Parts: sequence; structure tokens; C-alpha cells
Amino acid sequence: MSVPQVTIVGGGMITHDQILPTLYQMQRQGRIGEINICALKGRFLKELADAETLTRAFPGQSFRAWPDLQGDLDKPYPDLFKEVVRGMAPHNVVVVAVPDQLHYGVIKTALDADQHVCSVKPLVLTAHEGAVIEEEAYQRGLVVGIEYHKRFDDRSLLARRRYREGLFGEFKLGTAALLEKWYYRHSNFQNWCTVENSDAFAYIGCHYVDLVHFITGLLPVAVSVYGIRDRYPNGNEGFLWTDARVIWNNGACLNVQNALGFPDDAPGTNTQGLTMYCAGQEKGALIFHSDQYRGMKYCYTERPTGAGTTVYAEPSTDYFQYLDLGGPGLIPVGYGYRSVEHIVNNCIRAGSQPLDERRRILKEFDDTGVMATPANSRFNELVMEAGRLSILNGGREAVIDYGPPGAVRLR
Ligand SMILES: NC(=O)c1ccc[n+]([C@@H]2O[C@H](COP(=O)([O-])OP(=O)(O)OC[C@H]3O[C@@H](n4cnc5c(N)ncnc54)[C@H](O)[C@@H]3O)[C@@H](O)[C@H]2O)c1
Repeated sequence: MSVPQVTIVGGGMITHDQILPTLYQMQRQGRIGEINICALKGRFLKELADAETLTRAFPGQSFRAWPDLQGDLDKPYPDLFKEVVRGMAPHNVVVVAVPDQLHYGVIKTALDADQHVCSVKPLVLTAHEGAVIEEEAYQRGLVVGIEYHKRFDDRSLLARRRYREGLFGEFKLGTAALLEKWYYRHSNFQNWCTVENSDAFAYIGCHYVDLVHFITGLLPVAVSVYGIRDRYPNGNEGFLWTDARVIWNNGACLNVQNALGFPDDAPGTNTQGLTMYCAGQEKGALIFHSDQYRGMKYCYTERPTGAGTTVYAEPSTDYFQYLDLGGPGLIPVGYGYRSVEHIVNNCIRAGSQPLDERRRILKEFDDTGVMATPANSRFNELVMEAGRLSILNGGREAVIDYGPPGAVRLR
């Protein structure tokens, strides 16, 4: 049986940390073939090719770089990915890992070239664009999977199963928080995560909104987001602290706090977690996940190298780590790995089956609801739109109309 070729569009942080190592591992196991990576400039790809973590974990493996690494590494190639994707035989896989506002164009190009798609979150920025993608993918019988990796954390899957077995009753009140470290303000974020484009809730809050739906099956119907304007080191202004209130279709309320402000000297790469208070017939129930502190405490003799490291650390093996199982190289483990692997496997399963069968498989993915798809997670685009409308209007409540394709308006 032939194995699919995979093209990643985008060669930045998420490709380095999660996508490429997952695909290298699948390639090592013979489940996928050649890997192409397109980036805006050769410089990003050079950094990726030379990255020490990747060469240590996957000795002898490599990707094909577009543009190649021979020419001017700083020359931009904004449209080269189109040529590469159009040059692929139908029913291979395109992974979308470019900045949020470029997802739509890359996904459309991939679907037009009859490729299955794995996209990092958010799928797109509006419900309308999501509906266009859903329709196009269905017509052509192509998988589009959206990579919300918290869904593949075992604790999310366990909470989902037990909630759906009725063990928690009904969700009523919840709080979630995900604060990235202060030093993030010095990264490329300061160039684009500014008040006009995005905010802390839009960038990181979406994960817990998605997760509450994933566990409960409930849908968000209203969103209000209070944002505090703050300055990046380069002087740009961003909503770097946000407090959101999400109302669900059973009347439940989730409060979500996000920021680029967790202390750099604190242990862990961020702080995050979820508490859900629920009600049964005669009793209260509780789901509590500490998603940052997972029970490990390390104190090193000196501060390890790398951004955000601390002498005292509370690491986790749950999202993404490399293990030495006797080599050569290292084995990637964690829900970041399992999430990308799951979506790529779904693409492989649909492959080049007859159109009717591919459409049946798509419907099965939509209905099962484990992998986020354009059809089963439209609420995420609507929450994004509602959140932006609210934060730019001083935190006024924005309500969601489920369409189709769906719309938001200030109350
Ligand atoms: N927790 C998560 O789910 C999570 C975490 C991080 C990032 N992301 C998402 O991943 C995406 C990328 O984020 P990142 O942090 O890797 O960004 P990044 O800025 O590090 O990388 C973006 C990459 O896109 C490439 N690119 C830009 N324009 C291009 C074009 N026209 N053609 C080809 N390549 C182009 C750039 O060269 C760069 O390699 C974003 O949508 C982000 O929201 C998700």
C-alpha cells in the first residue's frame, strides 16, 4: 500500500514543537512518505532543518524545503505554497500552520487541489468562511480536521465519557484560566497580537471553550469579554489581560481568564486549568483539572538553557516530550503527538476511497465529534467573532445566532 505525502504550510513555532516531530515519527514508522515544508522565507526553514531537538530525536530524517536553502534566505515567497500544493497528486495531506488570518487561503488552495487537510486552530476567523470550507470539503469528499490538542489529553477524554454517562449531572458554573508567561510579550506576538487583530481570549481562551463543549456537548450562546489594554516592548498596544464570560445553551456560565502575564520566574511553562461545578438530581458534582501542575517537581543544579526555563520546575509529560527508548533518536509522546497523529490517520483512512464512501466517513467524523471538523465545531468561529465584537465594544455582551452559517450581534 502506498503511503501519503504530507506538505506542511508554515515553518514556525508550532511546526517545530509539535507538527514536524509527529510527522517524522509517523514517517519513521512507515505510515507517511515524503514531507515538504513551505515557509515565507528560507530562513525559517534553515532554522527548522538545523534545530538541535529535531536532529537529536530524528537522526537521518529530513524534509524538502520550499523555498530551498540555497538562495537568498530572506527573500519572501508568499505564493510558493500554492505551486507546491497544486503539484501534489490528489488525496494526500496538507497541514496548515501559518498565522491565523492566512488559514482560509491555504485551506481553499488545498481543497481546490483535492488534498485532505489538518489545520491548527482556529480553523478560520469567521463562521461564513467555515461554512464555505465545510461545503467545499463535502462536495469533494475531503477530510478537514482542526487541531484542538486538549481534546486528546486523556483527562479530557475521560471527563467527556463520564459526563456523557451522566455521572456529573449537568454543567452549571465553571472557571478556566490559561496565562502564558510574561516573556511571550518579547516574541513575534508584539507584531500581530495587537488590539485591532486579536486579544488574549481569542488566541488562548478558545481552548477551554472548545473543551467545555467537547466534554458536555453544550453550545455557547453569548459572550462578553473585558480586555485590559497594555503595551508590548515595541510600544504596540494589545489586550494582554482578558476576562470572558461565556453563557451556554442550558444557561450555564463559564468564566475564562487569559493573559500574557504569568511570572517568568514561576515554575511551569504557563498556568492553566479548568473547574466545572455541575448539578445532579439531588447533589452537586465537580470536575477539576490542574492542567499545568501535574504532580512533578524538579529542582536542577542550574537553570537549563531555553526560553522560560527555571531552576525549580514543574514539568509535565502530558503535552509533548521526547523519551529515550533505546534509540536511534528519541520518541515523541503526549497528547500533542496523539492529536496530530489522529487527524493524519483520519486523512489516510479517507484517502482515495470512492466519493460516496469518503462522504460517509466525513459524516462519521462529524457525528462522533472527537476530531473537530468545520461542521461540528462552527461554534468556535462564532465565539471568536462574538468575543472580538464584545472586547472592541467595552465588554458588551454579544449573542450568537446559529444560522446557518451563523452570526453574532451586540445585545
Ligand atoms: N495551542 C495551539 O493550538 C497553538 C499554539 C501555537 C500556535 N498555534 C497556531 O499555529 C499557527 C502558527 O503559529 P506559530 O506560532 O507557529 O507562528 P510562527 O509565526 O512561529 O510561524 C508562522 C509560519 O508561517 C509561515 N508563513 C507565513 N506566511 C506564509 C506564506 N504566505 N506561505 C508559507 N508560509 C508562510 C512563516 O514563514 C512561519 O514559518 C497560528 O494559527 C497559531 O494560532 C496553535
